[in-house]
Amino acid sequence: NIKALIFDLDGVIVFTDKFHYQAWKKVSDKMGIYFDETINNRLRGVSRAESLEIILEKYNGELSDQEKAEMMEEKNIIYRELLETMTADDVTDDVRDTLKKLREGGYKLAIGSSSKNAVFILEKVDLLDAFDGISDGNNITHSKPDPEVFLKAADFIREAAENCLVVEDACAGIDAAKAAGMTAVGIGDASDYGKTDIQISSFKELPDVINRLLAQA
Ligand code: BG6
Ligand code: MG
Repeated sequence: NIKALIFDLDGVIVFTDKFHYQAWKKVSDKMGIYFDETINNRLRGVSRAESLEIILEKYNGELSDQEKAEMMEEKNIIYRELLETMTADDVTDDVRDTLKKLREGGYKLAIGSSSKNAVFILEKVDLLDAFDGISDGNNITHSKPDPEVFLKAADFIREAAENCLVVEDACAGIDAAKAAGMTAVGIGDASDYGKTDIQISSFKELPDVINRLLAQA
């Protein structure tokens, strides 16, 4: 029985993917590393350090840990400057209203994000109070597709994994949700991924999706 929903943040609640792209693009251009939207898609759901490793596949040479750390730092500074421009208007009514409706319906809501900037983003868009628990890049040692971020989220809201439904836009996130023993709903990019249990094209469909699952149970 679904009693809680765990939402990925980037690409699900907010569209920060474009900022991740712009920030990594600046850093890679500076280093003369080829980087495009297709490569950017592979960065969905994975940590900052793993993102850098994917980008460096196009780099001919060796970088020290110190140099890698500097690149990640630089990317994050540019990314945070872009995040600074975000306001409550960067969350669609669809998302805001659906979250409200789900909460009124008695469901617990959590965030399960690989990002270390999750709380900062939620503050900027005025959604920090919309969630009962936040599991993010600061409380995990393994990022998606490892289930840790979602298992921690379930822990934070004191819910059994099997009662949790995860909403994700990344294949790595769908894998993580399945590895956690949760129901995986795909939106956007992950919606045609084979391991996704249920696909939605809009947030509004979520209450119906849950009702259908409850009727089947
Ligand atoms: C995920 C994004 O939510 O967070 C990834 O989908 C990103 O693309 C990861 O690399 C880490 O984000 P941050 O904010 O900690 O650099
Ligand atoms: Mg995402």
